[in-house]
Amino acid sequence: MPVTVPPAPQPAPTPGSGTDAASFDGRPGRLDGFGRALRDLRISVTDRCNFRCTYCMPAEIYGRDFAFLPHEMVLSFEEISRLAGVFVDLGVRKLRITGGEPLVRRDLPQLIGQLAMLRTPDGEPVDLTLTTNGSALRALAGPLAVAGLQRITVSLDSLDDEVAGRMNGVDFPVSRVLDGIAAARAAGLTPIKVNTVVRRGLNESSVLPLARWARDEGVTLRFIEYMDVGHSNGWRMDDVVSADEILALIDAELPLEPVAADYRGEVAGRYRYRDGAGEIGVIASVTRPFCGDCTRARLSADGHLYTCLFAATGLDLKTPLRAGAADVALSEAVRSAWSVRRDRYSEIRSQSTSALPKVEMFTMGG
Ligand code: GTP
Ligand code: 5AD
Ligand code: SF4
Ligand code: SF4
Repeated sequence: MPVTVPPAPQPAPTPGSGTDAASFDGRPGRLDGFGRALRDLRISVTDRCNFRCTYCMPAEIYGRDFAFLPHEMVLSFEEISRLAGVFVDLGVRKLRITGGEPLVRRDLPQLIGQLAMLRTPDGEPVDLTLTTNGSALRALAGPLAVAGLQRITVSLDSLDDEVAGRMNGVDFPVSRVLDGIAAARAAGLTPIKVNTVVRRGLNESSVLPLARWARDEGVTLRFIEYMDVGHSNGWRMDDVVSADEILALIDAELPLEPVAADYRGEVAGRYRYRDGAGEIGVIASVTRPFCGDCTRARLSADGHLYTCLFAATGLDLKTPLRAGAADVALSEAVRSAWSVRRDRYSEIRSQSTSALPKVEMFTMGG
């Protein structure tokens, strides 16, 4: 009989329950059309990547001839820092650097240094982190930590080279990603999280080995349900391995129990091993949507603001920025876009009727 691990308790409201600025989590902030505060900004620093993951940038579509953003369309470090400052003044407390693959952006530690200097209106630094495929981490972990990066999340879909190669599309060796994780640990970029997308028929067999490995290594492993982001990965519901299935696979060998969320709006449902040896997470955007607490905005490499991972359009901030707009005008543009936000794609996935193609995840930032 399959083992059922109950969902982790979530302190979640349903959209629409918040009414004033203090009601979301007791701290003032900008609220959207469903009462959700603006708390996190995910910044894509490039749309390029040296991997071709099947679920993100399939090699057959993103070949040699694919036109990525030309240099002049991509925000400079100064432009990114300035916009990030505007978001922090509006209530953002976490900055996550993403891509594409953020470490392919030249001189990235310089940007990290600039962002690390940002302060909230209370004079506090922000939570500054980064999601990477790990391929360049061995060389860059040290410089990133010195520049002020606090922690890191690494994507890894299998410990088996053949399976990982089929997922990352370029046969990138697992050992080099593991070297990168070791370098991140040595540089103090902790706690380290590892994200694993699970896709049916490709890497279910990697779930348990990864769970055993992460327990031994003391890293927090989170399994992500394969999502219908963008419009080029050929997503089908049949390819999704649900959080329930993933948890049952692990629980059969390593018994689990749910744990309360670390913080309001955490995307991962948390589970700990009953023997006390660490925890895992499941990010179940498909079978257990978490839009009710979604506090995330995304800034693309070409300076557009997206208020949902599944958006088809964004707000152009680069044009006013380059035309000389003052911070107050940029702030008003962001505030106004956030105040009318009513995104809840994952909750209404099957009824979504948008005729426009969704923007790719590597463009807007994962
Ligand atoms: P921590 O700050 O370490 O707690 O990270 P996090 O929980 O915000 O997770 P992370 O930023 O590593 O996101 C993990 C993955 O969750 C992403 O790569 C996406 O696949 C997915 N994810 C993150 N945010 C959203 C979101 O707003 N909507 C959906 N549908 N998926 C998301
Ligand atoms: N479904 C789920 N997760 C995805 N990611 C990229 N594309 C998808 C998808 N279609 C994840 C990557 C990485 C992060 C940047 O986003 O695995 O952890
Ligand atoms: Fe690159 Fe990350 Fe997309 Fe994979 S998921 S192709 S590593 S941006
Ligand atoms: Fe937020 Fe959109 Fe993801 Fe829902 S689907 S959690 S609204 S980004």
